[in-house]
Amino acid sequence: MELGVMTPGDEVIVPANTFIASVLAVTRCGLVPVFVEPCAETSLIDDSLIEAAITPRTRAVMIVHLYGRCAWTERISDICRRHGLKLIEDNAQAHGAVFREQRTGSLGDAAGHSFYPAKNLGALGDAGAVTTDDDALADVVRRLGNYGMEPKYHCDVQGLNSRIDEIQAAVLTVKLRYLDEDNNRRRAIADIYSEMLPPHLASPSPDASFLTANPSSVFHVFPIFTEQRDALQRYLLSEGVETNIHYPIPPHRQRCFPQFNHLSLPVTERLAATELSLPISPALSPSGARIAAEKILHFIQK
Ligand SMILES: Cc1ncc(COP(=O)(O)O)c(C=O)c1O
Repeated sequence: MELGVMTPGDEVIVPANTFIASVLAVTRCGLVPVFVEPCAETSLIDDSLIEAAITPRTRAVMIVHLYGRCAWTERISDICRRHGLKLIEDNAQAHGAVFREQRTGSLGDAAGHSFYPAKNLGALGDAGAVTTDDDALADVVRRLGNYGMEPKYHCDVQGLNSRIDEIQAAVLTVKLRYLDEDNNRRRAIADIYSEMLPPHLASPSPDASFLTANPSSVFHVFPIFTEQRDALQRYLLSEGVETNIHYPIPPHRQRCFPQFNHLSLPVTERLAATELSLPISPALSPSGARIAAEKILHFIQK
């Protein structure tokens, strides 16, 4: 069976600012991640830097729709087309996001999805999927996720057990009907934060505004950026408001990747040092979001 065009040592361009799982998906295959810095306004891969990162060994570009924001751009698509590169989407955080009437997860050659319970489309336990409109690739993915078997008990390739179980699939099938409604609830919470908080908190870049940079966001995360991040997080916790950080240590600085620890990726490192994720979920009440915003205002006006 032809598994594709990649051989160990081939390179995949990945955003430096992402959850480590995006990068592990590359390294697990014996491929080499080439990190590209994010745009400070959006926190998403900076498409103006991608072409310079391409080498004769580059085979694919992975974009990550981080925080629920669509990372796909015409420019990225064009670069992939011109250089014969596959475009892979990490859609773990952006279920339901629509860009020019097309859902994320259908914008590239293939997309990875996580249905971890806290995701916008979450199962009751771990689950995930790959989407693609390439039938041959779909066959390969199905086979790899079932020990590489095809037909049963015949393995031409070494696969793994990565099947979604039926109960999770059934739950997701029902929850899918409510995804747009749930995402609208997230948007309503995001609107409250956007109205109540000063715009400069939305981004390390002073000219960015909360929503105009990300009209298609489904707000998996509502990030703010502040030099006082750790003190603010402690204060909010003492006031009963739980927050999170996405992510405190960028992949290239993780100890599991000593080969990348020397890299200097200042935009990514700045985001990691200043990002704070505010409470957001379809279950959060508007009054809960207002209380959180008031406490943030109280802290920054002190
Ligand atoms: C951007 C991103 N990619 C990949 C993953 C991995 O998903 P899973 O935990 O379902 O394997 C996650 C989940 O946390 C994620 O946020």
